[in-house]
Amino acid sequence: MKTNAIILTFLGLLAPTVFSSPAEVDVAASCGSLGVMNVNTSDLPAGVDPNNIRTCADHPVGSAHEVLEKRDCEYGAPVGCSGGYCWKQCGDEGSGQWCWTANNGGYGDWIKCSTSSQCNTNMACGIGDCSACGCSC
Ligand SMILES: *[C@@H]1O[C@H](CO)[C@@H](O)[C@H](O)[C@H]1NC(C)=O
Repeated sequence: MKTNAIILTFLGLLAPTVFSSPAEVDVAASCGSLGVMNVNTSDLPAGVDPNNIRTCADHPVGSAHEVLEKRDCEYGAPVGCSGGYCWKQCGDEGSGQWCWTANNGGYGDWIKCSTSSQCNTNMACGIGDCSACGCSC
């Protein structure tokens, strides 16, 4: 009986590890080349909800508008909807820099749209360690 108790205790301690590990693998697998969003939740700016961080880091459309070459500058509209996602111009005025926008101060989900009227310049640029994150061109 003593042995059984020790084994059960051991399994009880082990169970959380056993069950959390495949979940992490599943997230990595479902994000694929987008990569998993990795943020230190104790380093988040004020106002960012740590429970509302997007799962995958990179933008599904990538680092280019569908109408532009890879990360070309955007001098036209201040905001737009491309490939179903909002982008906006950012950085210094006239620099042509732009970003994909994201909820939750840039840490949340990429903002979807069907027309550019659903996008605005108050939206935050997507933040994180990913090729389509941030403001550039
Ligand atoms: C997260 O940030 C805090 C505060 O800067 C730091 O003390 C901690 O080591 C960081 N954790 C990781 C896993 O990087």
